[in-house]
Amino acid sequence: MEKIRVELEERSYYIYIGNGILDGIGEKAGGFGFTHHIALISNPTVFALYGARVMKSLESAGFTVSEVIIPDGEQYKDFMWVNYIMGELLKLRLDRKSAIVALGGGVVGDIACFAASIYMRGIACIQVPTTLLSQVDSSVGGKTGVNHFLGKNMIGTFYQPSLVWIDIDTLHTLDEREFRAGMAEVIKYGVIRDAEFFEYLKTHKKAIDSCQPEQLLHVVKRSCEIKADVVSEDERESGIRAILNYGHTIGHAIESITGYTRFLHGEAVAMGMCHAAELARLSGLLDEGTVQDVSNMIKAYHLPVSSPEDLRPDMIIESMQIDKKAVAGSLRFVLPDKIGSVRIVNGLSDDLIRKSLIYKG
Ligand code: NAD
Ligand code: GLY
Repeated sequence: MEKIRVELEERSYYIYIGNGILDGIGEKAGGFGFTHHIALISNPTVFALYGARVMKSLESAGFTVSEVIIPDGEQYKDFMWVNYIMGELLKLRLDRKSAIVALGGGVVGDIACFAASIYMRGIACIQVPTTLLSQVDSSVGGKTGVNHFLGKNMIGTFYQPSLVWIDIDTLHTLDEREFRAGMAEVIKYGVIRDAEFFEYLKTHKKAIDSCQPEQLLHVVKRSCEIKADVVSEDERESGIRAILNYGHTIGHAIESITGYTRFLHGEAVAMGMCHAAELARLSGLLDEGTVQDVSNMIKAYHLPVSSPEDLRPDMIIESMQIDKKAVAGSLRFVLPDKIGSVRIVNGLSDDLIRKSLIYKG
């Protein structure tokens, strides 16, 4: 089992990663001094697959476990379901020393840990992520929250989990499209921080694609290490953490215009990363060959490299203006200057951005 520390003074915690470790969660949670009652928050899909094992493990460690099930889907990551969770926790009489275990993908993790952050002004939460995206991104770093009809992820808290428990074996039941979407965030880590890792993704593509345990473990571990490093440097995104948004400014706009239903988050980020690489080239930061390297990697993992024809560049620019990543009216982009290194750039002209959106890969 691999172990990575997220260094945040009194809010520090460990991420544990392994294959077949799901049944060990109870023993690990037992060492934290939580009161006996734990709420296991999940959705019907994931609970049917892994709920019994997680409950058995926690019960064997002496916990009383009550499941709180929310429906499966991004549309349920909202206040109404936070309110539902609050009601269930109150009925269960969870106290300030109880803990929540979030079992599922990013939707469950975001809403469950948001609920933990506000229930009785904050109780402990444990992330047990089961999608590739949640294992390499959303379960680490403490961003929790829900959507509002006026904007995605607009309501939330920074609230670090007590631990993150990642069993990569859970990825065997994950839909292929969801797996690929998670790979977009993995590729992102290579581009922003680690050229060697980027190369690894190229040379081990076959093994990663077929979920070979050794390579998959390396992919999840290296991604978590990079995210842990960045978050340790800048927990609340006042500086360097913004590099994790590479591909997201354009990606979010694509998701928003298409109503969050046509593309998975990772697919939109994949397109966003290619357009941002092209924007870097147009800004004189990146050579053409490296733009192609980014785009080839995205293609290799069967992800889209450019926004669809029906989304005109002006529509994307307009949507980006209302995104929260626009700081004081100026759009902010994370642009690579080589593989493994990015800069945060403000004040680019609409004309340049428009040209980058014409990129076809
Ligand atoms: P998701 O949680 O909707 O999961 C995708 C689908 O896979 C769901 O139907 C789920 O039930 C199913 N599933 C989960 N694990 C499975 C498994 N092991 N086997 C079979 N099916 C499984 O989607 P996601 O991509 O994990 O997360 C997306 C969410 O994460 C979004 O709401 C996004 O805003 C959020 N997010 C948060 C952060 C953060 O830092 N907090 C970062 C990135 C994304
Ligand atoms: N997913 C971006 C972040 O956690 O900051």
